[in-house]
Amino acid sequence: MSTIPSPGPTAVPAPLSAGEPDAATLARSAEQTAGRLLAPAAPHRLTDVVPAPQQVHPDPTADWTLPAEAVVVASADPAALAVAEQLAQLLRPATGYPLPVTDATTPEPAGGIALVLDDSADLGAEGYRLDIATDGVRVTAATAPGLFYGVQTLRQLLPATIESPSQVTERWALPGGTITDAPRFPYRGAMLDVARHFFAVEDVLRVVDHLARYKLNHLHLHLTDDQGWRITVDSWPKLTTVGGTTEVDGGPGGHYTTADYQRIVSYAAARHITVVPEIDLPGHTNSALVAYPELAPDKIAPPPYTGTEVGFSYVDPADERTYDFIADVLGEVAALTPGPWLHIGGDEAFKVKGEVYTGFVERVQRIVADLGKTVVGWHQLAPAAHLDGRVLQWWGTNGEDPTTADAVRRGARLIVSPGNHAYLDMKYAPDTPIGHDWAGLIDVRKAYDWDPGTHVAGVPTEAVLGVEAPLWTESVTSLADIELLLLPRLPAIAELGWSPRASHDWAGFRDRLAGQGPRWTTAGITFHRAPEIPWPTAPTIPAQRNLPQTDTATP
Ligand code: ACM
Repeated sequence: MSTIPSPGPTAVPAPLSAGEPDAATLARSAEQTAGRLLAPAAPHRLTDVVPAPQQVHPDPTADWTLPAEAVVVASADPAALAVAEQLAQLLRPATGYPLPVTDATTPEPAGGIALVLDDSADLGAEGYRLDIATDGVRVTAATAPGLFYGVQTLRQLLPATIESPSQVTERWALPGGTITDAPRFPYRGAMLDVARHFFAVEDVLRVVDHLARYKLNHLHLHLTDDQGWRITVDSWPKLTTVGGTTEVDGGPGGHYTTADYQRIVSYAAARHITVVPEIDLPGHTNSALVAYPELAPDKIAPPPYTGTEVGFSYVDPADERTYDFIADVLGEVAALTPGPWLHIGGDEAFKVKGEVYTGFVERVQRIVADLGKTVVGWHQLAPAAHLDGRVLQWWGTNGEDPTTADAVRRGARLIVSPGNHAYLDMKYAPDTPIGHDWAGLIDVRKAYDWDPGTHVAGVPTEAVLGVEAPLWTESVTSLADIELLLLPRLPAIAELGWSPRASHDWAGFRDRLAGQGPRWTTAGITFHRAPEIPWPTAPTIPAQRNLPQTDTATP
């Protein structure tokens, strides 16, 4: 791999002769200085991308500027055309250009942008090649996800003002050269806990947008917990009508209807993000027991719970009715979920111990397999018998767990989410206004400086499916809170999931990350101005007309 920085903007030449410059030289020099000050910004460097691409070959002779009459042409394939329309929708508000989308059997940039599906290109299931040349831009990939990731890279190479929701006068310059890119791990995710506090569909869609920018491809939704049940289950309606009406600190709670959940799933799918639904079992189930006391070990409804303790609740593992309940719930959730995964939790079931716990997990794992889905669960599932394909999610804080390593030897794969590096509900610093510190403080460097491939002792890189950043929401009550904790750490975790290990470099990451700040500011996204990042000031928008906003919310 090579990441060759392109040269910076050309310096104004110094006068050739020593001594006093003549009048003509002074005049030329003043003109050049003024020109340099007034000229539109030079293109970004081709390396200014998060997550860092696999290979970057700048060609400073091939810088290119998007013309007002550019066309986006894509292969005649519905998925490729959908990515082309997404690209045009990204670019239209700030540029004000019409950017019509067309198709062609052999798309050529012809002074615009071409998205080319080519399964003979050796780019893998998610890889892409981005060529920026004097005749325009070409993104080539074997799949629509590859084209989508190429588009995210293209977006970051444009001036930060491209994020403006209204028209800006700007030279839409791109740095010339070629990027060839593909992810290190197939699973790159984030989790949102919608149970401790409930978040509206629109908030979840904004989180999906943030994942998409950084080439994350899984959204894990923690849908159920002691404080609330957030997804409609037709066969057990009181889960939401009773169990969904509470949340931490006594707020009103809420739940997703079937249509709401399908909207999240399809919005994510349009951005090549798979939803991973979690129904946490056998613990973290107080809201279900409030709704259906027959599931409780003593068959007595507990009071609704709005605190933040863990480990006290559980569904009765000795009652057959519990397994009917689980089969119904998982069956309905599986039917609404196109992705392969069903997450069954399994954490902190402190009152279901030993063989009772492993026996319970083994039965639930079989229910999931019978539904045609792949089991995912927190690493507490490890002692249970192996089942083909099962995935454990590591959330420990010391990278040492012989039981997890043994489960991996028996065939489990691992999603790595160390509490002390990847838990985005941990505070950045003692004075962070929200968040926790039980797993330590996580500044940006702590989120970045670890390796998912080698983090858990005894687990080889080949067994690591990927990395995920969970956001628990005991203290999080708004989209602004979510964004404050996500950004700028989510891009750090995204880079660990995507970029080749050989590119890992804190100083380089810090500088590339800094360039994201003006983009977030321009787009109206909240973020934590972490002091260790050299944030530039936000771009000043030279001229702005308030045009009606383009609706970018497809589908
Ligand atoms: C967890 O943090 N209890 C998975």
